[in-house]
Amino acid sequence: MPYEVQGVIARGKGQEVSVETVIVPDPGPGEAVVSVQACGVCHTDLHYREGGISDDFPFLLGHEAAGVVEAVGEGVTEVEPGDFVILNWRAVCGQCRACLRGRPWYCFNTHNAAQKMTLSDGTELSPALGIGAFLGKTLVAAGQCTKVSADAPAEVAGLLGCGVMAGLGAALNTGDITRGDTVAVIGCGGVGDAAVLGASLAGASKIIAVDVDDRKLEWARDFGATDTVNSRANDPVEAIRDLTGGFGADVVIEAVGRPETYRQAFYARDLAGTVVLVGVPTPEMKLELPLLDVFGRGGSLKSSWYGDCLPSRDFPMLIDLFLQGRLPLDRFVTETIELGQVEEAFAKMHRGDVLRSVVIL
Ligand SMILES: NC(=O)c1ccc[n+]([C@@H]2O[C@H](COP(=O)([O-])OP(=O)(O)OC[C@H]3O[C@@H](n4cnc5c(N)ncnc54)[C@H](O)[C@@H]3O)[C@@H](O)[C@H]2O)c1
Ligand SMILES: [Zn+2]
Ligand SMILES: [Zn+2]
Repeated sequence: MPYEVQGVIARGKGQEVSVETVIVPDPGPGEAVVSVQACGVCHTDLHYREGGISDDFPFLLGHEAAGVVEAVGEGVTEVEPGDFVILNWRAVCGQCRACLRGRPWYCFNTHNAAQKMTLSDGTELSPALGIGAFLGKTLVAAGQCTKVSADAPAEVAGLLGCGVMAGLGAALNTGDITRGDTVAVIGCGGVGDAAVLGASLAGASKIIAVDVDDRKLEWARDFGATDTVNSRANDPVEAIRDLTGGFGADVVIEAVGRPETYRQAFYARDLAGTVVLVGVPTPEMKLELPLLDVFGRGGSLKSSWYGDCLPSRDFPMLIDLFLQGRLPLDRFVTETIELGQVEEAFAKMHRGDVLRSVVIL
């Protein structure tokens, strides 16, 4: 019997989201239905609502979630009903050219559920990042469920499903930060602060947090920033160079997703340093840089999708660090809210009042 549950729908570009009835099919072969317990509000959900990701409205929003497996379809062996899982948007295929070369975190053919969830009139929904978890129960590919210790609260665990993993991974995996490195993070929302935390975990000697909002800079300090720069008041490139002996940082992580902040990241890094772009740009954005500077300054310019994470490797490890008191993931949860408050949460995110609002289901 299909499930009938309430979910948060974005019907059109820039329109306010609404809570509507969603029909969730029973899991087919290779699929699972997960009873969602908590789902964080990520900036990418707002990008979807604004038509910045694609035009495939209506979207079923929500993609940073944890919950309990309710039912599995034929042939599913990875998880079983009752398992506590974090939902991931990188269920690797094992067959594509990236997977076959032993780089599954780049998998080019990740799995999502084959069946569609619909509105009650049969309209097919596009789930955000192939998940759609502002929803009582959601249908995913079984590989999108990563089992972790049930001792972690769902509102904390779910955050690893997107933004916090993206930030931690931008620092640990893509940026490959190691002890003694100098690091700057531009944009200190949930993703940027997770990058600050990742840099701290990796043993960076200096972590410079840059934002336009002083409250964000305060929070960044709590996650391990050693220095802060308000880039409304100061030129961030000069400030970062001043704080690094005039050279620039070894690794600069851009967690805003705009050409001007990317340019700052490019010039605020030391020669042969690394820029990691984790902020998501919108389709009309263009970047212009002197090619001679790209060549002459050397180093690497990388982008980081989902922190180049491998959920099966990274989620259980990070949850264990949290449970041991070594990774304060709970500090990302600014507030818990209800399903009907997602639109309010977008406004709070826009004003910078929160790191993460998490919907409890
Ligand atoms: N690459 C990925 O896999 C991935 C995953 C999740 C989110 N993201 C993206 O990461 C970005 C950040 O997400 P978030 O959830 O942390 O958003 P957020 O809105 O919570 O944080 C953005 C931060 O950037 C700051 N900011 C805005 N303009 C700035 C500027 N000019 N200079 C410095 N700081 C500025 C804001 O004050 C805010 O603190 C978004 O673009 C989001 O879509 C990427
Ligand atoms: Zn693959
Ligand atoms: Zn996200």
